[in-house]
Amino acid sequence: MFEGFAQVWTPVALSKDVRDEPVGMKLAGTKLVLFRGQDGKVGALVDRCPHRGVALSLGKVKDGCLVCPFHGWRFDTSGRVTDVPWNPDAKISQLRGTELPAAEAGGLVWVYTAPGGRPQSGPSAPAFLSRPELRISGFSVEWKIHWTRLMENMLDWPHLPFVHESSIGKGMRAKADSRMDIHMEERETGFLSTITVDGELQPGSLELRWPNQMVLTIADGPRTLIMMNACIPIDDEHSRLFVVTARSFLKLAPFDYVFELSNRRVVSEDRAIVGSSWPTAVPRPSEELSVRTDGPTLAFRKRYFAELYGSAAASAPGRPVPLRLTPKAAGASA
Ligand code: FES
Ligand SMILES: [Fe+2]
Repeated sequence: MFEGFAQVWTPVALSKDVRDEPVGMKLAGTKLVLFRGQDGKVGALVDRCPHRGVALSLGKVKDGCLVCPFHGWRFDTSGRVTDVPWNPDAKISQLRGTELPAAEAGGLVWVYTAPGGRPQSGPSAPAFLSRPELRISGFSVEWKIHWTRLMENMLDWPHLPFVHESSIGKGMRAKADSRMDIHMEERETGFLSTITVDGELQPGSLELRWPNQMVLTIADGPRTLIMMNACIPIDDEHSRLFVVTARSFLKLAPFDYVFELSNRRVVSEDRAIVGSSWPTAVPRPSEELSVRTDGPTLAFRKRYFAELYGSAAASAPGRPVPLRLTPKAAGASA
């Protein structure tokens, strides 16, 4: 489970998108379902009923439990079975779905990619998501691309005037003799990078928040504009890019759509080029040519191969104990 992406916290949804229906999704090759318990807390289970394997996300949420659409077993957010219809004698304490640690932070739902795991700490959401003066909006798009290529694209400064020559890279035309220097500062969650061109500090910063989030601060002051992009693996060939924007101006709700349109345009410029990368996933650093301005992407790539590549979470604990047939019941079914 979660090949190449085990034992990490990742955002998977906006909190406001998980309401009173189950929300199914695929994360790094594993199907998940999110739902809210009676206390309003979000829970995540592997989207496979331990009884006969159907998708729990096709069921309903009742009284804070997820009800399987096939035979109505009920699961709470910890994966415990709370009811088995027709079987008042079932030993429900021995029956479990497969739970994943889930939490909310910064208006996002986060999942820890280890079934039954006990992470040492909760998810770390960027502070800007909790600033009350900022208007937050978000959307997501799916790409046919491995998440590592997408993530490196997010950390890549020198591509801006090429891929985005008529949008965000417009003011940054590369001259043959100009020199870009990238400055990287280590942070608790990853690193922060800024650039100088011919010695002149350029506006903005990029922050890697390990493993799959990038925070782009375009401006932070009287007019604040900050974005978080999360590159969420769906499977080996597809990713979901989650774009969350925070702004201190044009805060009325209809402007959410204006920001979404402009961000979609920028993302589609990336998709047209970066989506053609081959091999699909980033190879080891020695297998592609790199130069000085690849510092941030190389730092990500090295850490990916050191910590995540080849990782996999143990498969589901707590498989259901089979219901034992009594001799009479066995006879009846023969
Ligand atoms: S398959 Fe889910 S209750 Fe039977
Ligand atoms: Fe880009």
